[in-house]
Amino acid sequence: MTVESAPDSVRPASLAEPTIPGTEWWRTAVIYQIYPRSFADSNGDGVGDLEGIMRRLPALAELGIDAIWLSPFVRSPQKDAGYDVSDYCDVDPIFGTLSDFDELLAEAHALRLRVIVDIVPNHTSDQHRWFQEALAAPEGSVERDRYIFRDGKGKNGNTPPNNWESVFGGGMWNRVTRPDGTPGQWYLHIFDASQPDLNWENRWVRDQFEAILRFWLDRGVDGFRVDVAHGMIKEAGLPDYTPPVETGSMGGTTAIADPAALDPAALDRAALAPDSALPKLEPKPIPSPPYWGQPAVHEIWREWHRVLEQYPGDRVLCAEAWVDPLSKMALWVRPDEMSQAFNFDYMFTEWNALEQRAVIDRSIDAFSAVGAPSTWVLSNHDVVRHASRLALTAESPQGAGIGPSSPGQPDPVLGLRRARAASSVMLALPGSSYLYQGEELGLPEVIDLPDAARQDPTWFRTRGEKYGRDGCRVPIPWESDAPAYGFNDTGASWLPQPDEWATLARDAQVGVPGSTLELYRSALALRREFALASGMVEWLDGYGPHVLALRNGVVTVIANLGPIAVELPVGGDIILTSEKITGGALPSETTVWIRTDS
Ligand code: NOJ
Repeated sequence: MTVESAPDSVRPASLAEPTIPGTEWWRTAVIYQIYPRSFADSNGDGVGDLEGIMRRLPALAELGIDAIWLSPFVRSPQKDAGYDVSDYCDVDPIFGTLSDFDELLAEAHALRLRVIVDIVPNHTSDQHRWFQEALAAPEGSVERDRYIFRDGKGKNGNTPPNNWESVFGGGMWNRVTRPDGTPGQWYLHIFDASQPDLNWENRWVRDQFEAILRFWLDRGVDGFRVDVAHGMIKEAGLPDYTPPVETGSMGGTTAIADPAALDPAALDRAALAPDSALPKLEPKPIPSPPYWGQPAVHEIWREWHRVLEQYPGDRVLCAEAWVDPLSKMALWVRPDEMSQAFNFDYMFTEWNALEQRAVIDRSIDAFSAVGAPSTWVLSNHDVVRHASRLALTAESPQGAGIGPSSPGQPDPVLGLRRARAASSVMLALPGSSYLYQGEELGLPEVIDLPDAARQDPTWFRTRGEKYGRDGCRVPIPWESDAPAYGFNDTGASWLPQPDEWATLARDAQVGVPGSTLELYRSALALRREFALASGMVEWLDGYGPHVLALRNGVVTVIANLGPIAVELPVGGDIILTSEKITGGALPSETTVWIRTDS
């Protein structure tokens, strides 16, 4: 591991000033996720890179976001698109060099954009030096103790140590071969076999990661998105476990809302009832698998919190933690732990007014109980893009990607309309919102990728039974009339781009009234102007069962999730609409923002 400090010249003096506790920048920030492989490719090899990102930063500043989060760009054999790290302190040559990173960081800061980097502490690549040393070392050695090696069960240890199943399909254990050719111990991997899990009970592992955090903080990063934050500690004894339900995208258990509360008559009654009479649709808690959400992880966050505190300015730790219910998730963001956690409960809530309202309430209640802001997120690199997901029908296996043979194919027109309405609600909510590159263009999931192009380990480990996540990772279009839609200038693309994307390219939307890009731009500007991110939600009743209506400061937000138009209130100025509005009615699947001033 090379540990080098960034020169003072790249340290962001202007962004490093601390704010009063409770007003830190990340509490209200809009954070834009860049998936480096698919954002912009400066050298034309078909894979995006840091230089490409740097050239496109002005477009992001112009969009009106506050920060970028970069998915992994560090050294990796790329078996899981960079989430299999072989050196945490160097840039992978496919993305550039450390000095490219320093330049990108300085440039982002000059544009007043903060930079969050992804850190992957649950597992390394099997090519990481630590794992190679563990393989070469004898059973029971200190090197082996950095990972989770166990003897197998049964005759000759031929049966894996327990029955756990990998998130990507297949078993969670792989057996190694001893130098004399005989079968040896098994190692644990929650994800692919090329991603062995680290042993976080081991102090040495913790110390290495403290040094890695400091390496990036010294260079000036504004914080970390922490991969698989819920998986780092496993229950003692590694007991067998059989999941009771289908698991969510990254293996989180899926919360099930009380079916009784979803009875349509109950929905209608509830929508007409005063606030206090509304059911909260608390999901039924599902017992946590022995590898997720173990209480001892909190001790790690407290240590990390103390490291970040030693740096000037307000640095953020954001947990990727698939934990239910939200009240348990909120424990990750207590004042001395992480700053934020992705709100996957919100992401996976049905497009249904009562459920949306319930999850918004639940989120604000749970996070504010520990003094943290709620986050909001609709898309990322692991889930079906929301411009497709919101139009999926019940039979679609949305947790595992969709492909040409998936049942319940989404209607693209309906999907985009719902996505625009949903994003227009999300950006009016108090707290911090995460955007995934391309959602501001209204990009759908690419469903018909040829099988031969697919690269997600899920596709291989399930032998094609689950399509996986490639469909949301296709390089994004910048110019309608350029090779690879301006992703690069050679036309190469690590995943093929669809023919229909010319009309979705950024240059086809800039300045075009009603385009998705202009909708996002206006929403972000108004969100800032009216300080919506630091406001409060006050629900407005009486609009019927299919409508979400709320006031946040002087802005009234009305979203019609139902099939027929509803009457708009009289008075106020319409300042944002997700679709064209004529007359005094709000069409179906449309959101409007009205400035009321009272
Ligand atoms: C969550 C990441 O978001 C996902 O892309 C990755 O495959 C797994 N963690 C494993 O690191």
